[in-house]
Amino acid sequence: MIWAIGGGKGGTGKSFITSSMGTYLAQKGRKTILLDADLGGANLHTFFGLTRPRYSLTDFFDKKVALQDISVQSGIANLDLITGSIGSLDSESINHGQKQKLFRHIRALDADHIIIDLGAGTHINTLDTFLLADRMIVVTAPEVTALENMYHFIKSAYFRKLKFIFKAYDLTTSIQETWKNRATYDIHNLKDLIIHLKQSSDRVRDIFDREMSGFVVHIVLNQVRTPRDILVGENLKSVCMNFLGLPVVYAGYARFDEAVLKNINSKEPFMLSNRLSPVATEIKALAENIIAGTHISVRKDVANGSLS
Ligand SMILES: Nc1ncnc2c1ncn2[C@@H]1O[C@H](COP(=O)(O)OP(=O)(O)OP(=O)(O)O)[C@@H](O)[C@H]1O
Ligand SMILES: [Mg+2]
Repeated sequence: MIWAIGGGKGGTGKSFITSSMGTYLAQKGRKTILLDADLGGANLHTFFGLTRPRYSLTDFFDKKVALQDISVQSGIANLDLITGSIGSLDSESINHGQKQKLFRHIRALDADHIIIDLGAGTHINTLDTFLLADRMIVVTAPEVTALENMYHFIKSAYFRKLKFIFKAYDLTTSIQETWKNRATYDIHNLKDLIIHLKQSSDRVRDIFDREMSGFVVHIVLNQVRTPRDILVGENLKSVCMNFLGLPVVYAGYARFDEAVLKNINSKEPFMLSNRLSPVATEIKALAENIIAGTHISVRKDVANGSLS
């Protein structure tokens, strides 16, 4: 199963969450591969105390080495790492063919879980890699700027997905017509447009229902500091449903803990050196929710004042 971790803003904790969930899954005995797809600023290996691995995606793109063959051991049983590449190859320079080849190789990797750590931003390569996943996960901090970026990221991924659907089923022209005449149909936004399209044609309704059935974004809140922060995830669920008509799973959160910062560059990843910490427990819970596609039960956490 492929998981992709995106979220728009830099520094929210995508790589920390990727490395920690990967460690947890590997410890459960699941064969796990982490793929650092942050082509500009690959640093996932740092979370395992590794120096820059010898092989990287540059070897895959430039030297045509198979993806499986550039994975390196992370130092933890069942957990391998495929690293990104700095400088020599930024995401702008990957062409369509290279991207499709990367996706084919990712799908063919021999693992129970493949977790892709995406870079910040909404570049189309990032969005396309996000859409490739069976579990689309966004990591955000509870601050307003991070939330705005994350909403923009989800919206951009949704637009990209719609564009694929419109193109694949030759709907682009008729949809553009409907949008041009939106005042006549009382359409104000994208959500209204999709509702209108589904109501006006059984074929379009069937296409959307089929194509969008797997489009579920899983939200992870990181660097949470107060019980009130935890509730932000609930609000995001409503915002995505009300403005985009999208179902979102609030998979869980991890609190802010200085120990995470201190642990960077240490030989042992956080989940091993701090295995009994609240953050480790929260990460296990959110990984299990992502596997099962279930929501965290927020009210109970907040009522218990679990951050105090
Ligand atoms: N829960 C947390 N508590 C404390 N510090 C954290 C937590 N999560 C992440 N950090 C710290 O925040 C910094 C950024 O984290 P990380 O590198 O995982 O973010 P990122 O989203 O991958 O960033 P980028 O977009 O630049 O790749 C790191 O120094 C990390 O140790
Ligand atoms: Mg990162």
